[in-house]
Amino acid sequence: MYEIISKKSLNSSVEWMEVHAPFVARKCESGQFIILRVDEDGERFPLTIADYDREKQTITIIYQIVGFSTQKLSQKQVGDFIHDFVGPLGRPADLKPHKRVLGIGGGVGAAPLYPQLKRLHELGASVDVILGGRSDEFVILEDELKAFCDHVYVATNDGSKGTKGFVTDILNELVSQGTIYDEIITIGPLIMMKVVCDITKDLGIPTSVSLNPVMVDGTGMCGGCRVTVGGKIKFACVDGPDFDGHLVDFEECMRRQSMYKEEEHLCKINLGG
Ligand code: NAD
Ligand code: FES
Repeated sequence: MYEIISKKSLNSSVEWMEVHAPFVARKCESGQFIILRVDEDGERFPLTIADYDREKQTITIIYQIVGFSTQKLSQKQVGDFIHDFVGPLGRPADLKPHKRVLGIGGGVGAAPLYPQLKRLHELGASVDVILGGRSDEFVILEDELKAFCDHVYVATNDGSKGTKGFVTDILNELVSQGTIYDEIITIGPLIMMKVVCDITKDLGIPTSVSLNPVMVDGTGMCGGCRVTVGGKIKFACVDGPDFDGHLVDFEECMRRQSMYKEEEHLCKINLGG
């Protein structure tokens, strides 16, 4: 059992939680994830490790309340326990000590992006980031990223903060001004990662994405997290979650992501959501 040490809301649908998980905190690296079950009957679901503290033996997770299981997690309070918290899973992100890196985070995708950018900064890279959200409220971790990023750009769909538009509008502006990046890391909605990759492929900028398909066992056995990368079948839980974005079959990922929408909706109704 894993105790919730602290918890806060980042906006109306996204929460930050620090969990006491000594083994995971001792071993984890940026880019890895855990699979948790809120209680004995709960469904397993993956969450990227947003931060860790080896001394305090804690792991930080950031989650969006989107379905039945994240609603149940959200009902837990400080001092309560999470039943299972398995990890670290997946491969650590392959972070090269580039000179200049750009992170692009869409909505809650900024959470898994944060530890990778922080690590790159520690490795000596100069880091810029573009954060996108539907409105001001949905832009998360801006202050945390400002602590080490050279430039933090913000785009909101409704213009309530930063540039009015998508993260890709800022990306297009930066590259048209001649700003050069050695690598781009983008995490967020599949459609956003796809559009970013379409742009960066033409520009020849290596681009890494993080995929979070449906996961069950997290060990490469169930096939739930199957994705196609470079024409080959990969399992996001053991081969990823990070992949070369220029090789990912995003259309297939998007089809598979929508497979359980109806069931999620019914569960939410049953929970009173
Ligand atoms: P959202 O739909 O509000 O989008 C966030 C931002 O992405 C937008 O503000 C915009 O700047 C950009 N965007 C969206 N559609 C775009 C398009 N067509 N072209 C260019 N840019 C576009 O995001 P949300 O509701 O916060 O959802 C976050 C998403 O991130 C979820 O779909 C979730 O599954 C995903 N996510 C992925 C991971 C991962 O590891 N891959 C982790 C956490 C969250
Ligand atoms: Fe089962 Fe990846 S979660 S194969």
